[in-house]
Amino acid sequence: MRTITTLSEFKQFRDSLSGTIGFVPTMGALHEGHLSLVNKSNHTCDYTIVSIFVNPTQFTQNEDLSTYPKPLEKDSTLLKAFKVDAIFLPTNEIMYPEGFSTFVNEEILSRELEGKSRPSFFKGVTTIVAKLFNIVNPTHTFFGEKDAQQLRVIQKMVSDLNSSIQIISCSTVREKSGLAMSSRNEYLSAESRQSAYIIYKGLKHGLSLLKNGERNPDVIREEITKIFQLEPLAKVDYISISDNISLEEINGEIAGDILISTAVYIDDIRLIDNITYSSD
Ligand code: PAJ
Repeated sequence: MRTITTLSEFKQFRDSLSGTIGFVPTMGALHEGHLSLVNKSNHTCDYTIVSIFVNPTQFTQNEDLSTYPKPLEKDSTLLKAFKVDAIFLPTNEIMYPEGFSTFVNEEILSRELEGKSRPSFFKGVTTIVAKLFNIVNPTHTFFGEKDAQQLRVIQKMVSDLNSSIQIISCSTVREKSGLAMSSRNEYLSAESRQSAYIIYKGLKHGLSLLKNGERNPDVIREEITKIFQLEPLAKVDYISISDNISLEEINGEIAGDILISTAVYIDDIRLIDNITYSSD
């Protein structure tokens, strides 16, 4: 497993490969969710490349860029259990040199859900992912359903920009309590980690209402709210019942493929999660 930090070394390495190349972009602080993507790449592709880069353009000033965990040694040790051909570890200066002025912006899906709370977030994500795709030049790339909207936005970007990279979506890996694994779970105290199970509990309740035939999105939102209210440390940012393709909020009767998604602050740590349902 090589660790590569410069563009020239990466190009030399990439030029030496032929066959299918699986790429897993990450921001590090790796957990079993990330590793499931690496594992899937191992089973799908001849080579696997992982990038670790905490991308400043997807954080706003009030967010956790400066405190985002960077346990690089632990990350490399975790990756050694897999067949990772290279870790690409660029610096800010390499990805955003002085005078950088070109951004990639998806303008429809990005405005929904997370986009309402974090208006510049996806512009940062699509820009860095497009740059990484150009550098790594993979045949396949792996994204988690944990970040369902990110996955949709990247699929849209790849389609809109006529890229031939195949996007493989990977299901959400959860802790025993049901809490979706996330690098940000590291910020939670033992007590708040226990409270965070409420997020998945709320989503599952929404799903069971749908399965039992409830078709009024207001009822489902209210019922999930009631579950979240059971946990004093939980403060809801949003609870959304949206169309899983357009990501538009559903206000009339529910039909088709549904995404139930939420962002909840547990003790001031913002966590997101989602669950999907097909009503046909
Ligand atoms: P990061 O949060 O590090 O996530 C990297 C990848 O791991 C994403 O595709 C994410 O959906 C996936 N992932 C995270 N938690 C998961 C879980 N519990 N189960 C399954 N997959 C999970 O997402 C980003 O980084 C960044 O926005 C990035 C795409 C790297 C651009 O900077």
